[in-house]
Amino acid sequence: MPHEIFHYKTWNDIELTAGRLGISLPHSDDLAVLNTPLKIGAFTAHNRIALQPMEGTDGTETGSPGELTVRRYLRFAEGGAGLIWFEAVATAPEVRASAHQLMLTQENLDAFKRLAEQIKEAGLKKNGFAPVIVMQATNSGRYSKPHGYPEPLIAYSNPLFEDTPLPQNCILTDDQLKMYEERFGETARLAQTAGFDGMDVKCCHRYLACELLSAYTRPGAYGGSFENRIRFLLNAYRAAKANITGDFFLTSRLNVYDGFSYPYGFGVAPNSGLAPRLDEAKCLVGILRSEMDIPIINVTAGNPYKNPHVNRPYDHGNYVPDEHPLVGVDRMMRCVSEIQHCFPDLPVIGSAFSYLRQFAPYLAAGMVAQGSCAMAGFGRMAFADPGFPNKILSGQTLDAPCVTCGGCAKLLRAGSPAGCIVRDRQFYSLEALK
Ligand SMILES: Cc1cc2nc3c(=O)[nH]c(=O)nc-3n(C[C@H](O)[C@H](O)[C@H](O)COP(=O)(O)O)c2cc1C
Repeated sequence: MPHEIFHYKTWNDIELTAGRLGISLPHSDDLAVLNTPLKIGAFTAHNRIALQPMEGTDGTETGSPGELTVRRYLRFAEGGAGLIWFEAVATAPEVRASAHQLMLTQENLDAFKRLAEQIKEAGLKKNGFAPVIVMQATNSGRYSKPHGYPEPLIAYSNPLFEDTPLPQNCILTDDQLKMYEERFGETARLAQTAGFDGMDVKCCHRYLACELLSAYTRPGAYGGSFENRIRFLLNAYRAAKANITGDFFLTSRLNVYDGFSYPYGFGVAPNSGLAPRLDEAKCLVGILRSEMDIPIINVTAGNPYKNPHVNRPYDHGNYVPDEHPLVGVDRMMRCVSEIQHCFPDLPVIGSAFSYLRQFAPYLAAGMVAQGSCAMAGFGRMAFADPGFPNKILSGQTLDAPCVTCGGCAKLLRAGSPAGCIVRDRQFYSLEALK
């Protein structure tokens, strides 16, 4: 049954609906808490607003930032966020999610260096501080589309994702996984040389490292037990660690919950159905903290292809879930909060604030004020209004928020440059897809 469209005029309206749904979202009118610094390893984010990674599908064929990439990040940098979690950057050509996904190589290192410098300079000039920048290193695995059509490389066959099982040669062997772990080493070296402050070993949204977390049915060293299912991620960290120096840090954007039942989803138990059970996720975060020295973790959930409402609650789109978007927001906030409360000294970035549009800052402030996350991470809002952090921090209303129309995701799926088709129409339109 389609749910109601966003119609709230006040926070009280949201609370009324939330009450009817049996949920309660954190809230604070005092946004000052978002304007406080946060230490992240040797770095300091100037405020508690983070931009979540958002693939723009606007790189050149060889993976360098294109003109639209530079435009996006300069707007982001000027917007005033304390931290920019730079989008997914491929660790090998065959695991790019599109023919225009960024890919960092020795050959295009200078282009990334220039962009990282420009981001820092633009932030400094406009806001008096440079944002902390983390680069997300990815292996797209199941969603590899390096030539514009699917060329999946999967951890295990999964009937929820395949109408008919994929050919055997799509299932990565243990040796191939070992080779792909090593790729994170070279990418980390390049990311540090390019001037990023840290690198994310991406482990979310069912890209390769994330898919392996639920490889219960995979035989051998990378499947079955928890220890085996986290092997790829930890080895990727080890490869990265061996190639970095000084203050540069490693971290992950981590799916703590996939939204699929056992044995096809991480973050559920054999008897929990679709209900989140974060025991293994907490164990994993503990290992990343104690063995890999992560100074921050970015918590997310869901899969953008099969259950997109779990990752980014929305009103409009091709796939209308049988769930009120506020339930999705609540689930994400509870997952984030559970991890943060388990690790009070490890800053956690929360996801999925954009659905609340002009009210999102009050949810963000509520979450930070009650110690349920250290930073609020915004994705689609940054496409709609890159200047939104400065608006929040100066007490202005968000007058041009994301309307969760799904247009940016449609562009992404089509392999076209992604951005806001509502607020940035001169540059982005679905017309291009016709
Ligand atoms: C067009 C588009 C591109 C995205 N690219 C990435 C990405 O590169 N890496 C990632 O971890 N998440 C990616 N996401 C997910 C967002 O970072 C974010 O988790 C999601 O939009 C929910 O947050 P929001 O409600 O603030 O938009 C993308 C989402 C969209 C719509």
